[in-house]
This record gives sequence, C-alpha cells and structure tokens, in this order.
Amino acid sequence: MPIDRCICHNISFREIKSIVEKRGFQRIQELQSEKISSTNCKLCQPYVKEMLRTGKTSFKPGINLD
Ligand code: FES
Repeated sequence: MPIDRCICHNISFREIKSIVEKRGFQRIQELQSEKISSTNCKLCQPYVKEMLRTGKTSFKPGINLD
C-alpha cells in the first residue's frame, strides 16, 4: 500500500498538493498553521516535505526521506 496521505487529518497528498498550488504555500509550516496536515503524529511530515519539493504525491513504504 503506498504512502499517500496524512492519516491524522484524513487528507491525501494529492489534495494537499492542490491546496498548496491554489494558495501558493511553499513550506510545511503553512499547512500546519492552517491545520491542513502534519500537526499530530507527524509521520507524514517527511513525505509532505518531499511532496512540496518534488510534486510527488505517492511514495513506496520503507524509503528513507530524512
Ligand atoms: S499522519 Fe500526518 S500528522 Fe499523523
């Protein structure tokens, strides 16, 4: 199963990317301050950062992103 969402906020990386593009966000802190993603367990955080950097919205489990 791919890693493609922030489970805590019940939102896919694809949906987050769409919000990022509409609102011109560039940093994960902007998503966090708006409570869109990545404020609870933060397991999604490295993937959301990678999404912001590369535009990818789905990741293989087990890849090392830190
Ligand atoms: S999965 Fe994103 S904060 Fe928990």
